[in-house]
Amino acid sequence: MVQYNDDLKQEIRNANDIVDVISQYVILKRSGRNFMGLCPFHKEKSPSFSVSPDRQYYHCFGCGKGGDVYNFIMEIERLSFRESLEFLAERGHIQLPEVNDEEFSKKQYMIDRMNKINLETAMFYHERLYMPLAKIAQDYVKTRKLDNHTLQAFKIGYSGEYNELYTFLKGKGFQDHEILATGLVNQNDRGEFIDRFRKRLMFPIISVSGKPVAFGGRRLEDNDKIAKYINSNENLVYSKKKHLFALNLAKQSEEKRIILVEGYMDAISLYQRGIDNVVASLGTALTEEQGRLLRKYSQQVIFSYDSDGAGQNAIKRGIEVLEKQNCDARVLQMEGAKDPDEFIIKYGSGRFKLLVDNAISLVEFKIKMLKDGYNLDNAKDKIAFLKKITDVLSSVENKIEREIYIDKIAEQYGISKQAIYAEVNKALYKGKAETMLVKPTAKIENSKVGEVDSVIRKRENMVLYLLINYPKETKEMIQSNISADDLKIEENKLIFEKIMALEEKDSEKITQQIANLEDEKIQEHISEIMVTDYEITSVEKCVQDVILIYNKERLQNRKLQIVKELENPNLEKGQMKELEMELSDIIVKMAKIK
Ligand code: GTP
Ligand code: MN
Repeated sequence: MVQYNDDLKQEIRNANDIVDVISQYVILKRSGRNFMGLCPFHKEKSPSFSVSPDRQYYHCFGCGKGGDVYNFIMEIERLSFRESLEFLAERGHIQLPEVNDEEFSKKQYMIDRMNKINLETAMFYHERLYMPLAKIAQDYVKTRKLDNHTLQAFKIGYSGEYNELYTFLKGKGFQDHEILATGLVNQNDRGEFIDRFRKRLMFPIISVSGKPVAFGGRRLEDNDKIAKYINSNENLVYSKKKHLFALNLAKQSEEKRIILVEGYMDAISLYQRGIDNVVASLGTALTEEQGRLLRKYSQQVIFSYDSDGAGQNAIKRGIEVLEKQNCDARVLQMEGAKDPDEFIIKYGSGRFKLLVDNAISLVEFKIKMLKDGYNLDNAKDKIAFLKKITDVLSSVENKIEREIYIDKIAEQYGISKQAIYAEVNKALYKGKAETMLVKPTAKIENSKVGEVDSVIRKRENMVLYLLINYPKETKEMIQSNISADDLKIEENKLIFEKIMALEEKDSEKITQQIANLEDEKIQEHISEIMVTDYEITSVEKCVQDVILIYNKERLQNRKLQIVKELENPNLEKGQMKELEMELSDIIVKMAKIK
C-alpha cells in the first residue's frame, strides 16, 4: 500500500487550520489562548472541549478524545486516515499525487460499478411500474392514493419475478460478482441467481448526492405471513445508519426545519400533500450519523413518529441523539390517526401543518411521558408526579426558559406554581454551589473592612472574573442587578466601576484596559481573580446564581433594617404602616426567589 509522505501530510495540515475545521462542527468560543466548546463526541452541557490554535491540537477534558486535525476528521466523519487525508486535501485545495494503489483503485472501481447497478435497477423497477404486467402494483398505488407526480419524484417502482432483474443487469454487461455485491440478486445452493425483491412495490433510497444506494420493497398482497418490507442489506455503498429516506428531496425544501417520520409511506404521503421537508428514519432508532446529517440541513427537527408506544419510545432515544448535537428537537402531538400518512389523508395538510407549528419541546414531551402513570385527581399521585418532574425541570439551565415551562405545566396539570418552584429550587440549590454562593447574611454585616469573609471574597472575585472573561454574556445582566456598592473589597469596587465605564464588550480589550490600571495592589488583586478556579460549568447559570444571591442579600439586609426600625417606640403610625407594607412586600419577593 502506497503511503502518503510526511511532507504532504504536513502541507495538508497547514492548509486546514484546526480552529476553522472544528468550527464547522462545533460552536467554539475563545477562552484564554484556547477555544472551548461542547464536545461533539460525548454528551455534555458545559464545554470541556478545548482547541489550541497555537499547537493545532484538540482535547476533550470530559471524554479524553483528542489529537490533530486528521484525528478530528476521522472521528467526526467516520473516515479512515486515507479518506480523511483526501477530505482535507480537497478542503485545502491541495492536489494529491496520482494514486497507483492497486487495492484502493480496485475498491473504487467496485463502488463505481455498484452505483451503476443501483441506478440501472432503480430505472428498471420504475419503468416496470407503468407496464401492463404491473397491474397489481398499479392498483395498490391507487388504494394508497399516490399520484403520478409522486411516483416519479420518488422513482417508485415494481420488482419483477424470479430473476428478471438479474437477466436485465447481465444484458447491461455487469459481472456476476458485481451484481451479487449489491445484494439485489442472491445465488442459491444450486448456483441459480434469484432476485432479492420480487413482486414488491419498490422505494429506492437515494443518497444526498442523488444516487440510489439501496431499496425497500413493500409486499403487495394482504398477507401477514410474508414480511411487509424487505430492505437492501448493508454493503460497500450502503450503510443503513448513514442514510435517511427522502433527504435528497427534503434538502431542497425552503423550510428550515425537517419533519422526521418512521415509514416510507409517511414521507411519501406528506410530500405529495405539499409537505416537502420530510424524511424517514425507516423504523430504526435514529443514529448519530443520521443526527449529524439532519443537523447539517436543518436547525430544527420535528419528530412525527407513529402514535403507538413503540414510536413514542423511539422518540425519546432519537431526541437524545439530536440534543447531543445541539439540535432543536420537537415532538409533534397527533391524535385520531396512527401515523402521519393516515392523519394527512383524513384531515388534510392544513391541519397537519398546525400540528407541526404546535410541536412541543423535549421538556414538555418528557413530562407528558411521565404523566402517563399517574392519576392527577389523586393527591398522592400528584405529589409523586411533582417529584418526578422536578428532575426534568431542574435540568433546564436557562432560568427564563424554566419559568416558562413551570407556568405552562402548572396550568396544564393543575398543580400550584409555588409547589413546583419549591421543589425545583430545592433541587437546584442543593449541593456544592450552595457552599460557595449562599451565605448567611448576618456574617456579612459583622465582617470588618479589610477582613472580608473568604466566601464573599471568592464570590466577588468571580463576578469580576465573569465580567472580564465573558463580558458579552454577562455585562448587561450584572450591570442591571449588581452595583459597586454591593461589593465589599475596595479593589473590586474600583475594577468593577472601571469595567462598567467602558463601552467595550470584548474580553481581550477589557483585559488590556484593566492591565493599564497602574496600582500595584489592584494588579495583584487582578491576578488573584484570574488564577482562581471558580468551577464554572455554565457561565449563564453562574451569573444567574450569583445575581440571585445579591438580590437576596439586599432584601435580607433591608428586612433586618425594617425590623429594627419598627422597634423604635417613637415611630408614627403612618410610617409604621409604610414599613410594614414594605416588609410584607419583601417577604413575598423572598419567597419567590426561594
Ligand atoms: P405502510 O404500512 O404501508 O403504511 O408503511 P409504513 O411506511 O407506514 O410502515 P410502518 O409504519 O409499518 O413501518 C415503518 C418503517 O419500518 C417502514 O417504512 C419500514 O422501513 C420498516 N418496516 C416495517 N415493517 C417492516 C418489516 O417487516 N421488515 C423490515 N425490515 N422493515 C420494516
Ligand atoms: Mn403507515
